[in-house]
Parts: sequence; C-alpha cells; structure tokens
Amino acid sequence: MPDDAAADAGPPPPSRRAFLAQLATAGVGVAAAPVLLAKPRPAKPADAPPAEAGFVPAGAVPVTLRINKKEHTLKLEPRVTLLDALREHLEMTGTKKGCDHGQCGACTLHVDGKRVLSCLTLAITAQGKEITTIEGLAEGDTLHPVQAAFVECDGFQCGFCTPGQIMSATACLREGHANSDAEIREWMSGNLCRCGAYPNIVEAVKTAATAIRTKGGRA
Ligand code: FES
Ligand code: FES
Repeated sequence: MPDDAAADAGPPPPSRRAFLAQLATAGVGVAAAPVLLAKPRPAKPADAPPAEAGFVPAGAVPVTLRINKKEHTLKLEPRVTLLDALREHLEMTGTKKGCDHGQCGACTLHVDGKRVLSCLTLAITAQGKEITTIEGLAEGDTLHPVQAAFVECDGFQCGFCTPGQIMSATACLREGHANSDAEIREWMSGNLCRCGAYPNIVEAVKTAATAIRTKGGRA
C-alpha cells in the first residue's frame, strides 16, 4: 500500500480488550462495562420520596438489609425475593435476573461470604446478614482480582451472565475449588453462559487464582 494510502487508512482499530478497558475507565455503558465496574446509581436528591413511598402493598413489613456495608430499610411483602428487593426497590441492577427459577446463576451474590441465588432467597430472611453484590466487589476504582481477570481473559461476550459468574468465581476461589480446569468447571457449573464463553471464564478464574496467590490479593 502506498504511504499516502496507509495514512488515509488511519490508525489500526483498538483491540477488544483495549476497547473494554477504555469503556471501564470511562464508565461508559455497553452491556459488559457496567457489570465489571458496577457501581450504585447516583443517590436521589434528599427531598425525593423513597421508591416504596408511592405504593406500599398491604402486608408489607419493614425489612432492613445490609448491602455492601450499608444499611437500607424498605417496606416489603414477605414474599419479595432478595433479587427483586435489589433490582426493583433499591435500583441496584448489577445483579441480573435470568430465569428467576434457580436455574441459571445470573442472580448469584454473597450472603455472609457464601454464594446464594438471590432469586430463591426471600429478602426478609437476609436481614442481619452481610450481603455483597457485584457493585460492592471493587474497592473504589480498583477492580477485584476476579473482575480484572475477566477483562484480561475476555471472560464474557454479551456480559449478561458476568456479574453472577464473577460472584460465583470469587466464592469458588475462597472455597478452594479452583485447583484444576475440571474442578473450576464443576464448581462453576451452576452459572450458565448463553454466549458459551466458558473457556475464557475458566481461564479468568485461573488467572485470578494466580494473581491472588502471587500478589497476596483478596479472594
Ligand atoms: S435468575 Fe436466579 S438462578 Fe436464574
Ligand atoms: S457472556 Fe453472554 S451470557 Fe455469558
């Protein structure tokens, strides 16, 4: 190609990883970026009514949930799941609703450090416990090693399953169930990925395990 033609062609396109890193840095929203750097939405103005103030169903009871080290008091019907409390009442949408039937793992979060399916957990039963969601995993702008590994290894495509995968992988590492590909696949088998990103997810879990082991990071 002649020199002037090469100049017209402009710089080479950024790699997918560089693109995602830019998005993550800029906080711009495609599907995958918000789940990796998921943060709570900005607080509503002080004079704004709470979400549940407009309609409180008969039978609603006060429920206090401690989520990502912060307490939230809501009025919920006892039948409301933890997943719906987060998404519908607290506008914390990092935790995803896939099947809503305990089949896909998209709604995985931690309760007292253990992974649970929030679509099968009643919010009222999570009172007095420490709930951690994907929004609470990073420390400020520093990604958790598992989040960083998912970016590094391209452990996602559409990103919908990714919050659940990351929460599950974090617990998997903490449980000591990441000693081989087969073990990772077995202990992550409750988290489905419609995009079939499984090889990269396994790679991400192994990369995070190494990072935590060698750099003394947190699981
Ligand atoms: S949404 Fe909870 S397991 Fe699918
Ligand atoms: S990345 Fe699309 S469902 Fe897993």
